Amino acid sequence: MTTSDAALFPPEIESFRAQIDSQLEAYSDLGSDCPSHLREAIQYCLLAPGKRIRPLLVLTAASLCNGKIDNAMPSACAVEMIHNYSLIHDDLPAMDDDELRRGRATCHIAFDEATAILAGDALIPLAFEIISRDTQPAEIAIKCVKALAKASGPCQLVGGQADDLNLQFAPADIESLEKIHRRKTGALLTASLELGALSAGASDEQRNSLVNYGKHLGLAFQIVDDLLDLRGSQVKMGKRTGKDAKSGKQTYPAVIGEQASVQRAQEMADQAIASLEPFKDAATALELLARFVVGRTH
Ligand code: IPE
Ligand code: IPE
Ligand code: MG
Ligand code: MG
Ligand code: MG
Repeated sequence: MTTSDAALFPPEIESFRAQIDSQLEAYSDLGSDCPSHLREAIQYCLLAPGKRIRPLLVLTAASLCNGKIDNAMPSACAVEMIHNYSLIHDDLPAMDDDELRRGRATCHIAFDEATAILAGDALIPLAFEIISRDTQPAEIAIKCVKALAKASGPCQLVGGQADDLNLQFAPADIESLEKIHRRKTGALLTASLELGALSAGASDEQRNSLVNYGKHLGLAFQIVDDLLDLRGSQVKMGKRTGKDAKSGKQTYPAVIGEQASVQRAQEMADQAIASLEPFKDAATALELLARFVVGRTH
């Protein structure tokens, strides 16, 4: 992914990118108690040029709810860490067996499988350590920990990944596939909005509105990921394309066709935008982001 491609989000959202990158750098400077090869693997993955959509959503949601960016930053970095662990493990031979991620060799290729498993493992407690230590006050930190734990746990992200792998051996109906997409990808995107709202001490109405936005955006995001695997550019995506169809993976285009998938992603963006109604005109950046997610090319 190139730097100009990285500017695919609205400017208000992009304005947080540099802060996120420098805080991720600081948080992954783990010192000499962490074995050097493990530290290198963690930094290699975490600091690679990802889109950073999840931490950008955390900070944008916090700012929309008039929260302090500094208090949302631990959650923003934590959600990116959980996302990165999920990518490292998703790429392992036992899962999707991929060799390219963010334009670079995947972690188990650049290092080795054991190091990749451990780098992924390490990012999980590190994420929760950071939120619980650096979010104020403690009662908000607990709410953030709970929201991120639930979204990344056995009934959401991990459960979605487990069903995604099992479904490769069974014919899919669209309801089962939607349930997988909502959990393996949607849950963490939804949690990003919720973490922003929680860290800002937002009202229930604001939080519900952002959570609903996240649910629709999350499904749209994975439908577009499926579409890009089919038709996207490997160079722009920085990961191998054309792989889902070859491995017989059940995806939106495989189950309902390309045109219906594009339409479904657009409907999800429309519903995401409609969910922002309580914010009136203040949520324009998130409205634009929903459109960008559907039109993205990487
Ligand atoms: C890839 O996520 C995995 C999915 C959930 C589709 P992203 O497309 O956000 O990956 P990065 O973080 O930009 O590399
Ligand atoms: C992965 O979905 C979602 C995760 C939780 C990592 P994919 O397997 O489609 O993601 P990519 O295409 O490898 O990024
Ligand atoms: Mg996968
Ligand atoms: Mg994959
Ligand atoms: Mg994919």
